[in-house]
Amino acid sequence: MKNLLLLLFIVLVQYSFGQPLYKDKKAPVESRINDLVKRMTLEEKILQLNQYTLGINRNVNNIGEELKSLPAGIGSLIYFNADPVKRNDVQRKAMEESRLGIPILFGFDVIHGFRTIYPISLAQACSWNPALVTQNCSVAAKEAVLSGVDWTFSPMIDVARDPRWGRVAEGYGEDPYTNAVFGVATVKGYQGKKLSDPYSVAACLKHYIGYGMSEGGRDYRSADISAQSLWETYIPPYEACVKAGAATLMSAFNDISGVPATANRYTLTEILKKRWAHDGFVVSDWNAIEQLIAQGVAKDKKEAGLKAFLAGVEMDMKDNIYFENLKQLVAEKKIPMSLVDESVARILRVKFRLGLFDEPYATVLDEKDRYLQPESKALAARLTEESIVLLKNTNKTLPFAASLQKLAVIGPMAKDKENLLGSWAQNGKATDVESIYEGLEKEFKNKLQLSYAKGGDFDGLDESGFQEAIAVAGQSDVILVCLGEKNSWSGESASRSTIALPGIQEKLVVALKKTGKPIVLVLSNGRPLELVRLESIADAIIELWQPGVAGGTPLAGVLSGRVNPSGKLSITFPLTTGQIPTYYNMRQSSRPFGKMGDYQDISTEPLYWFGHGLSYTTFTYSSAKLSSARIKKNQQLTVEVTVTNTGAVKGKEAVLWYISDPAASISRPMKELKFFEKKEINAGEKMVYRFEIDPMRDLSFTDATGKRILETGDFFIHINDQKLKFELTD
Ligand code: NOJ
Repeated sequence: MKNLLLLLFIVLVQYSFGQPLYKDKKAPVESRINDLVKRMTLEEKILQLNQYTLGINRNVNNIGEELKSLPAGIGSLIYFNADPVKRNDVQRKAMEESRLGIPILFGFDVIHGFRTIYPISLAQACSWNPALVTQNCSVAAKEAVLSGVDWTFSPMIDVARDPRWGRVAEGYGEDPYTNAVFGVATVKGYQGKKLSDPYSVAACLKHYIGYGMSEGGRDYRSADISAQSLWETYIPPYEACVKAGAATLMSAFNDISGVPATANRYTLTEILKKRWAHDGFVVSDWNAIEQLIAQGVAKDKKEAGLKAFLAGVEMDMKDNIYFENLKQLVAEKKIPMSLVDESVARILRVKFRLGLFDEPYATVLDEKDRYLQPESKALAARLTEESIVLLKNTNKTLPFAASLQKLAVIGPMAKDKENLLGSWAQNGKATDVESIYEGLEKEFKNKLQLSYAKGGDFDGLDESGFQEAIAVAGQSDVILVCLGEKNSWSGESASRSTIALPGIQEKLVVALKKTGKPIVLVLSNGRPLELVRLESIADAIIELWQPGVAGGTPLAGVLSGRVNPSGKLSITFPLTTGQIPTYYNMRQSSRPFGKMGDYQDISTEPLYWFGHGLSYTTFTYSSAKLSSARIKKNQQLTVEVTVTNTGAVKGKEAVLWYISDPAASISRPMKELKFFEKKEINAGEKMVYRFEIDPMRDLSFTDATGKRILETGDFFIHINDQKLKFELTD
């Protein structure tokens, strides 16, 4: 009866004042939300809290049935097609057939490009060029919007220190600050200046939180994270990206020391909504609500739904648990109506901000005008150039000497296309990719004689191709061996127990070495590799990562010298798998790292530290200068260094500034990255790099409750091989 009266009232108001307030473009978003929520029935509200799928999910870990009939009032769809016409048909149904005409939010995993696939996130961070990452993400957003997507499940900002974990490829490495900076750059690229811009998509920070700590590098495992590490290591990227305006977050599969991330009121509500005042919404990961049963915190789906909802998960991805149970839970007074309203308001807020109520349909263009525009491919190529890391280069093997005539190109990655795409490239096509060999042909046309033999496969035991490879190599001046990982060895549920290349690939290099020719190793992979047996055999090693569509030409440019490599590692390469975890910002320990406490069989030093990367030129650092040796807590300190390009070619140098705090009430990491900057310097010229230290931002740390503490005492700035001391006083 009460509802009937309310409905009558609304109709009357509408009749007398024309269109309802929520449809008024000019009205403030909050008024539109309030007006709309007031008009909604409980059933309509609950539908908004659910996400179904449209199209078939081809992710083997997340198989879902294709729904034949969709309720017009559904909140969101994961859109597995790339067809704006189809999206518009479905959207039209929502706009015209649902009582209130609420648009559907179409989400999809646009991870490193929609169709113009660019390098994986781990590689992007090796560029130390967040502005370039933003530009590539804008391209991804535009291609996504033109395909009918409003919302991407990206960036992944899970700090990851176990390279066995398949998902290290999806994040920005081992360091919280790097994840924060590249996460923010990505959010900016997707969301543009404002969400309502025509080519903006909403970002989704994932997987909130602690997924990177998944035990033993296995997927879907428990994450035993102390409150101290949660605040110190895992939270900073999320805090930075929430502050940068990220519209949504996804709750993770893992538990955090026993409390699943998807039922964690502390992280979802206390921290995210109360402390940080995030006003967007949280979606559960695929099946994460139902999995609360498997995780041992809910006896059935109803209890799982109740726990997730009360903790602060507003949208149920695919489980249909909210749809099936929320009405009853409200009737039983286990869920207050006010929380339903608040959750619906959060989802509507994102839809209003995206402009979906006012422009619900996607523009329909021909595929050729939507994807792979020349300027988009050029941006992807630039990012590949800057992400490539030159790991080793003895005797100036690279760039190739002008006298070089014959190059043997060997290995399973040399002509491969599919694997260069990397994981999570669902709309990427192998036919769009330029292979390494094709890049070489273009770069060295009429300059070098190329010969090719595959030699062997990525794995298995078949050595029958070795003879041909040795014969081809024997005729050459230099051997380029192209090895790596299949793209299916990275991503979700794609962990490896060892990070070494399969034996067959290592054997191929050993066999080729017998020719006595210099060996240049090119690696394409989604995680750090165990290179201990290959490092001494190779004269030069290039980490190409998984570059996406533009791999061949940027790599060939590095080989020819047209491109001077400038990437530096965003993640440490352990010497062996047994050294895991090894990361540069380990906490200080009772006896000095690297001097005592070695393994019996190997040193504790990794092969290549975070930040390692070579160039074709030499950069000489002046003695760094501090503006003062002592500052007060409310003062700023400037530290400056002049870097001179003392080599013969121009190059880009990323300067990485670290801080260490040798004595604090809570033991601090050996050092922590606080700032970085990359600049191009011409041969013979110099550039000044400056770091403005803000004590509260750069010298403080959090305790286990997230409280920031700034303590007086000595600190050190680390830059290259210099270490400068200063004092902080009251
Ligand atoms: C599961 C993955 O963990 C997550 O990263 C992804 O966004 C969702 N599935 C949706 O595909």
